[in-house]
Amino acid sequence: MARLYSTEHQPETFLVVELRLPRESAAHAELRLAEMVRLVESAGGQVADRFVVSLRQINPAFFLSPASAGRIAAQIAALNATGVVFDAPLSPAQFRNLEKVCNVKVLDRTGVILDIFARRARTHEGRLQVELAQLRYLLPRLTGRGVEMSRLGGGIGTRGPGETKLETDRRRIQARIAQLQKAIEAIRRHRATQRRRRLRAALPTAAVIGYTNAGKSTLINRLTGASIFTADKLFATLDPTTRILVLPHGAQVALIDTVGFIRDLPESLAVAFRATLEEMNYADLLIQVVDISSPNRTEELRATERILADLGLAARPRLLVWNKTDRLDGVPARDFQDTADYPHVEISALTGEGIESFLHRIEDMLTRDYVLDTFLVPYNRIEQLTEVRRRGQILHERYEECGVRVTARVPPSVAARLSRYEVAVNGRPVTADKEKMPPDGKRF
Ligand code: GTP
Repeated sequence: MARLYSTEHQPETFLVVELRLPRESAAHAELRLAEMVRLVESAGGQVADRFVVSLRQINPAFFLSPASAGRIAAQIAALNATGVVFDAPLSPAQFRNLEKVCNVKVLDRTGVILDIFARRARTHEGRLQVELAQLRYLLPRLTGRGVEMSRLGGGIGTRGPGETKLETDRRRIQARIAQLQKAIEAIRRHRATQRRRRLRAALPTAAVIGYTNAGKSTLINRLTGASIFTADKLFATLDPTTRILVLPHGAQVALIDTVGFIRDLPESLAVAFRATLEEMNYADLLIQVVDISSPNRTEELRATERILADLGLAARPRLLVWNKTDRLDGVPARDFQDTADYPHVEISALTGEGIESFLHRIEDMLTRDYVLDTFLVPYNRIEQLTEVRRRGQILHERYEECGVRVTARVPPSVAARLSRYEVAVNGRPVTADKEKMPPDGKRF
């Protein structure tokens, strides 16, 4: 009789081990464990069990004590788990030793994050960046691991664009790294051109930032009707996406979605994703989304703050968006004092509550320095009005014999560019457009 093989994907099951450092509080270790569990789930793994191991010191061979490693191995066997995740930066030697003792796939936090990134990278650039980060991570761990990886047959920690490279030798990996670096550089140059184009189009830009899973994509979807991929998984968004948002008075804003932040982002990833975060340097406003219902909220805010400081963006105008208020069960978000220093709004991106006032707030912040002005734009320069429409708030518009008279609040730069069409209060031009001025000057 022919044997049948199930082609259904069997989810991997993991034992998740949090390593509590000598001076760390038990509560803090529990919070880190909860996040590690979410990361594993985001990578598509099932968590068979979890626990915290308190360390008295870091063992160079195993990170934890050999006795603890032995107990973990017994637990893995009892659970019949396919792997174990240690929330610690394991050295290549610690990896190998733990793999030998546990006899299943061993992952650390970086390995899990890399896997999530690999699953979520959508654009060409995102894929290349993930592959580069994977290869850099794997290179020092290559010895002995290639055999292990093929024996364990894929799954978390082996997936993604870098997957087929795992079994190639060190030199080929190095060559591939060099190739990827070149390709990424070329894409970055292209992106710089796009950015310049956007700057020429001169829309104000707001970057939506925040800890992973805070609800950034859900918010952008609600605001712009865009269908950016969202899911209850960490890092659902990996690549920056730009959408145009129309504010209540008609002005437009380029809204940039950014990759979710996470505490202790591995350095290899931080470097690989700098290009993604670089977009934020050009933002006029940072819209920082916070999951107000998260038990790790304070940590998440701190991690975001640190990343912004590293990127030199701590002082950039910022609107805090306390999201997921629908989960608060009537507890008012303003009780949370940790973010009270910044202008903030409370919303539920899911139900739409608070979105109106959020939009007005963005408008206020982006248009704070706008100037109120009246212009008479001649019909043969009518294209000049486009900028007023796109970037300003038109309060009054009238079609007259000589042109369109428009009263609007516009950015100072637009006012400067249109100054030749400016109309003074008494109805006379401040700076006459000489070539268009009728000889008697009574154009208005
Ligand atoms: P990354 O891509 O990981 O950075 O995540 P993100 O910040 O873009 O989060 P995303 O929009 O993917 O939302 C994460 C999860 O939170 C999804 O399951 C959403 O449905 C859920 N979510 C987002 N906003 C709200 C909200 O206001 N209320 C509730 N209850 N859930 C929300």
